[in-house]
Amino acid sequence: MSDSLVERYRDRLPVGPDTPIVTLGEGGTPLLRAERLSEQLGLELWLKFDGANPTGSFKDRGMTVAMSKALEEGAEAVVCASTGNTAASAAAYAARAGLPAVVLQPAGAVALGKLSQALALGARLLEVRGSFDEALTAARELGRRGTHVLVNSLNPYRLQGQKTAAFEIVEELGRAPDVLALPYGGGGNTRAYALGFDEAGAGEPVIVAGEAQERRSTLASAIRIAEPAHAAEVAVALERTGGRVVSLSDDAILAAWRSLAREEGLFCEPASAAGVAALRAGGVERGALVVCVVTGHGLKDPETASRLSSPAVPVGPDPDEIAAAAAR
Ligand code: F0G
Repeated sequence: MSDSLVERYRDRLPVGPDTPIVTLGEGGTPLLRAERLSEQLGLELWLKFDGANPTGSFKDRGMTVAMSKALEEGAEAVVCASTGNTAASAAAYAARAGLPAVVLQPAGAVALGKLSQALALGARLLEVRGSFDEALTAARELGRRGTHVLVNSLNPYRLQGQKTAAFEIVEELGRAPDVLALPYGGGGNTRAYALGFDEAGAGEPVIVAGEAQERRSTLASAIRIAEPAHAAEVAVALERTGGRVVSLSDDAILAAWRSLAREEGLFCEPASAAGVAALRAGGVERGALVVCVVTGHGLKDPETASRLSSPAVPVGPDPDEIAAAAAR
């Protein structure tokens, strides 16, 4: 039977004996040694593949705690604004909790896999004519009115759940890494890792946060966020650990995405490669022990993946034709 993240870290999470635990078996994701990228970058690089969570992104770590607390506190409905992954996760955990979920997405800006997930899971999906940032402002207002519990990362229970990824890394490596690299959208996850390493008490890594240079229009739609909600706290956390934000072109993000897939066999969505892209930009000491968080699964964004890859080659069911085509 798969253990829930809340059960594993119960003593370090804000739950009590009567909290109803809403779980899909999240957490416990693979920490993979990246042989080829380590060699190329002159680092000892490990990849924390949080795309292996039940709905395909790290959001599930936070959503199990946020939804459990919402249920405990008598919520009648939940709401979030999302570039897609939070929506899919909220939809899944709300279904599990038996609560209605309203998800607000910027119209035309969410990848197909995420859109299909939220719909299939029964969320009330509203496409907002506007940006993610505008949708988030509206979602916060519904939260303030008290009709819906906000399950964006502004809900503190989300960060509590997400900090467990740092615990898992420390358990597996036996210490904190020298450097932690990850994508930076709204900054909730960066804060959660800083909190988790602080609580783990095994040393604090330098945090390298990769953001899209073109925050409003990046092809990495998961992190298409103009105004990071946690910017001030991220700045404090980076300052404390000597970390930094690295601004990345879409080309740099896509090059990292491609190398994760082709050289490490890890298929993630483009935004999830921002941590590797930030490392490729340099500035990390040779030989450092580095963990890079890969935040979301590649199947989230099949359209971008197929657009960026060479097309399949049509052949007849003829071994000679196939052998010739395979050799090309
Ligand atoms: N990676 C992925 C795959 C994401 O979906 C997100 C954020 C991030 C990284 C950035 O994390 O915001 O904590 O800095 N996705 C949110 C969403 C905005 O709505 O799914 P952050």
